[in-house]
Amino acid sequence: MSEEKQSSGTIRKLLPTETDRLRDHLLRLDQSSRRMRFAHAVSDGFIEDYAARMNDMGSIVHGYFVDGEVRAAAELRKLGDRWGDDAEAAFSVEEAYQDHGIGTELMGRVIRSARNRSIHHLYMSCLAENSKMQSIARKYEAELKFEYGEVVGEIIPQSANYISILAEAVEDRMGYMLAVLDLSKRLTRAA
Ligand SMILES: CC(C)(COP(=O)(O)OP(=O)(O)OC[C@H]1O[C@@H](n2cnc3c(N)ncnc32)[C@H](O)[C@@H]1OP(=O)(O)O)[C@@H](O)C(=O)NCCC(=O)NCCS
Repeated sequence: MSEEKQSSGTIRKLLPTETDRLRDHLLRLDQSSRRMRFAHAVSDGFIEDYAARMNDMGSIVHGYFVDGEVRAAAELRKLGDRWGDDAEAAFSVEEAYQDHGIGTELMGRVIRSARNRSIHHLYMSCLAENSKMQSIARKYEAELKFEYGEVVGEIIPQSANYISILAEAVEDRMGYMLAVLDLSKRLTRAA
């Protein structure tokens, strides 16, 4: 991937109407990345159902957008019906966009979203062989525990402060404008 391609991307939260963008991204993952993302091989049908449930699960999904397509995603998921002490994070970056710092950047956003929702324990699990994911988790001082072929990383986000809340709010506002622009470009292309 060229540097130019990477710099053309923007990170913003997906709107509830953009589950199809998440689905298309997850379907584009190469076989190995798909297995790493879900910790086992999954079918296209599984991914379609999974992405369709994004809103029901109340997940916060940050996407890395290039020309209106999601090329990487970071999901922050509740572990119950509402945001509680614990939450889970999962990451996916399409092969052509890997190793350019996007996963690291997305993890920063997820940790901040967790922090602003008073989450005390943020978990991410990955296969034991997924050294890249573990390397990113270590950058954010995650405690890594090896369990039955998987590694569970635990990050304890700092308490929210007005700067973390303001930064997320400003990005949300900007993200909404970018989403509207993406939508209008798509409608123009479809016309
Ligand atoms: C894991 C994943 C999210 C990382 O995203 P990414 O954008 O490629 O990661 P980054 O470029 O931000 O960072 C990768 C880091 O791993 C390091 N790295 C690369 N290959 C590595 C390896 N084989 N072993 C250890 N570290 C490695 C890089 O040097 C980099 O660290 P640095 O910035 O200090 O140099 C992405 O590769 C992916 O989607 N993989 C498939 C799905 C998956 O594994 N998801 C995680 C489970 S939920």
